[in-house]
Amino acid sequence: MSNHQQIQATDLFQPYTIHHLTLQSRIVMPAMGRAFSPNGVPGPDVAAYYRRRAENGVGLIVTEGTVINHPAATSEPRVPLFYGEEALDGWAEVVRQVHEAGGKIFPQLWHMGMARPAGSQPYPEAPSMGHQALIWKVI
Ligand SMILES: Cc1cc2nc3c(=O)[nH]c(=O)nc-3n(C[C@H](O)[C@H](O)[C@H](O)COP(=O)(O)O)c2cc1C
Repeated sequence: MSNHQQIQATDLFQPYTIHHLTLQSRIVMPAMGRAFSPNGVPGPDVAAYYRRRAENGVGLIVTEGTVINHPAATSEPRVPLFYGEEALDGWAEVVRQVHEAGGKIFPQLWHMGMARPAGSQPYPEAPSMGHQALIWKVI
């Protein structure tokens, strides 16, 4: 569709192709934290949750914030991890089900920075770290 054509609300529900990616609709679901993954592992209920969104026409799903591999990245052990075999196996099942239902999905990667309260689980001994400290660690 060119910019010169009038866009109708019904176009939202039509497939949309950008480069090599074709979405079943123009509807994109934003990241929305849920914290339903005990020990950071997304289980069958999480896969079913994302699958329902794809089944009901969402073209592209951005997952809830998922925790990167750093001890101060999160403050809540039920927020899903995006590292480790068990958590990644759980995500693989989420992806499989979303694709089966015609949707596409990608993860939001998350580090809480200095918003993390000191002493938070699952690594209470880890000091909270903001972006400057993290950049120094990387360098
Ligand atoms: C329950 C809930 C959880 C959310 N969790 C996240 C999150 O994990 N990461 C994020 O970037 N935004 C999160 N958001 C913000 C949403 O992505 C945001 O509300 C959405 O993009 C719509 O933007 P608006 O609220 O400015 O209209 C959350 C919003 C809600 C309502």
